[in-house]
Amino acid sequence: MSASVTVSAPAKINLTLGVGPTRADGFHTLATVYQAVDLCDEVTVSPAAENTLTVSGEGVSVVDVPTDSTNLALRAAALLADRAGVTGGVAVHVHKRIPVAGGMAGGSTDAAATLVACDALWGLGTPREDLLELAATLGSDVPFCLVGGTATGTGRGEVVTPVEDAGRYWWVVALPGGGLSTPGVYAELDRLRAGEPVPDPVVPAAVVDALRAGDVDALAGLLGNDLQPAALSLRPGLGAVLDRGRDAGALAALVSGSGPTCLFLCRDRVQAGVVREALERSGTAALVASAPAAGAHPVEPAVVR
Ligand code: C5P
Repeated sequence: MSASVTVSAPAKINLTLGVGPTRADGFHTLATVYQAVDLCDEVTVSPAAENTLTVSGEGVSVVDVPTDSTNLALRAAALLADRAGVTGGVAVHVHKRIPVAGGMAGGSTDAAATLVACDALWGLGTPREDLLELAATLGSDVPFCLVGGTATGTGRGEVVTPVEDAGRYWWVVALPGGGLSTPGVYAELDRLRAGEPVPDPVVPAAVVDALRAGDVDALAGLLGNDLQPAALSLRPGLGAVLDRGRDAGALAALVSGSGPTCLFLCRDRVQAGVVREALERSGTAALVASAPAAGAHPVEPAVVR
C-alpha cells in the first residue's frame, strides 16, 4: 500500500443550468449539462492518527476554506471510513487552483477526489456505483466530479448521465474576486421568481446535438444559466465583466453556476488568450482552461513519499 495517494480533481462548469421548482427537501429540481475543465485541485491523503486537513493555494486565496470537520473533503473521508469499517485517521492535503466559493464546484470536487484517494489508500476497491451513491450524499454535484467529461445532471444535480461529446472547447475563466454563497444565490432566484409559475426544467435537445457534433458555434448560441439573474442581482458588477469578454471576441459569456466566476467560450486557444488578456487589462484575473477533462483520478504514477 502506498504511503500516500494523490488525486487530480477537476473544476466543473454548467453549459446549461435549468432550475425548476423547490422540492419538499428544500433543493431545486435541476436539468443541467455539466462539463469538467482542466483546471484542477490536487488532493493527497496519507495515514494519520486522526483526521486532519491542510490547504495550500496556487493563484487563489484559500483563507475561506474551513479546515475543521465541516470541510466536505474530511466528511468524504469519514463517510467512506465509516462505510468500510476503516479505523484510524487520514491526513488530507488539498492544493487548490480552483477558485473558492466561485461556482465551479471546488469543494465538491475535492470531496470526490478524497473518496477516490481514500479508496486507493485503504485498498478497498469500492464499486463505482457505491462511490457515486456516497458522493450524492455529500453534495449535488459531487457525483459529476467523479464522472467528469460532459454529462447531464438531473434530480437535484446528482443523477449523472454521460453525453457524447466530439469537441474540444477553450474557455476563459474570469475570477472577479470574492465568493457568492450557493444557498444565497438560490434564495435570490426564488425571490426574483416569487409568484411566477416555475416549470420543470429539461436539458435542451439542441445542446446534446451540438456536443455530439462538437459544434462550438452552435453550442455558443445555446449556453444558459437560470442562476445568472440571481448572481447579477447580488453582484451587479458581473455584468461589466461579461460585457468585457464579449467585446474582446468571446463567442459566448455566462456566469458559472452560482458565480461569481464568469465563463467565456472561445473558438480556439489563440482567441482564449486574447480574451484573457483583455480581462486582465481591465483588472479581472482570468485564466484559460480546456474541456472536457477527466473526472477525479489518481495522478500517475502514484506518488509515494
Ligand atoms: O448539494 P449542495 O450541498 O452542493 O447544495 C448547496 C446548496 O445549494 C443547498 O443547500 C441549496 O441551498 C442549494 N441547492 C438547491 N438545489 C439544488 C442544488 C443546490 O437549492 N439542486
